[in-house]
Amino acid sequence: MSNINDEQNSSELAELKLLQETIFGKYGYDFRNYRHSHFRRRIKQRMIMDGLTSIAQVQQKVLYNTLYFNNLLKDLSINVTEMFRDPEFYLYFRNILLPRLITYPSIKVWHAGCATGEEVYSMGILFKEAGLYDKTQFYATDFNSYALKTAEDGIFPIDKVGTYTENYKKAGGAQVFSDYYHTDSKVAIFNKSLITNVVFSNHNLVSDGILCEMNIIICRNVLIYFNQTLKANVLNLFAESLINGGFLCLGTKENVLDSNINVGFEPIEGSVKIYRKSLGN
Ligand SMILES: C[S@@+](CC[C@H](N)C(=O)[O-])C[C@H]1O[C@@H](n2cnc3c(N)ncnc32)[C@H](O)[C@@H]1O
Repeated sequence: MSNINDEQNSSELAELKLLQETIFGKYGYDFRNYRHSHFRRRIKQRMIMDGLTSIAQVQQKVLYNTLYFNNLLKDLSINVTEMFRDPEFYLYFRNILLPRLITYPSIKVWHAGCATGEEVYSMGILFKEAGLYDKTQFYATDFNSYALKTAEDGIFPIDKVGTYTENYKKAGGAQVFSDYYHTDSKVAIFNKSLITNVVFSNHNLVSDGILCEMNIIICRNVLIYFNQTLKANVLNLFAESLINGGFLCLGTKENVLDSNINVGFEPIEGSVKIYRKSLGN
């Protein structure tokens, strides 16, 4: 029995690898170093939704149907996010990190994997409230163009605003949160003044290059989808993009301290996963 299972598993693994090669060869998106469990789960879910019974059928569709691939890309990119996600991270950022930036003549912040932009608007609010917004240039990137479009529009479902308001308060927000948006029917439209200093652009962390001279990189809840090899590559990309002494902010389930990764980051705060690139590198 276990032999049959082993054979099925290895055939499935081979088919998934073939699918990754097809996606890479045809569209240039490289999922070969994403965590296998993540890739497999997403493909299986897509098969159930489309009533497909084999990975080979997915492969055929990907090969001959660009629209199908675009939808698959949305499945694989997982854009789950919220404003002031993990409020304790934003509270720490507000109280401990931002005061350190007051003396900087200018500041560059990269949101890598910004999804639909809730994180970008949240940071915009923190920088405004600290009086640092006007000297800051933000770069907000993702490899999902649909998500980026939503980010630029800044229009979010009204039913999320209750949670966002609570998160804002837990993150030390003391202003009237509703001053940052207006409502229209079922949506909240966030103030454009929060993104006047933001450049939104498509950037793939697997295949695109560095962004120069960043003071802060915020890449939260993205590395969890990568295997150790890709994670190390992306951490190196961040190390090269940051100035010496720059800050890297990761998600609560992520860290730079796994085995085989040593790119000169020191934790400044373990529980909220903020690291500093060493001054000497
Ligand atoms: C779960 S969301 C995280 C959003 C936000 N940073 C947060 O913490 O709420 C993960 C994002 O990473 C993006 N992503 C995944 N792989 C990527 C890659 N290779 N290059 C750029 N963005 C990627 C996805 O498109 C998605 O928008």
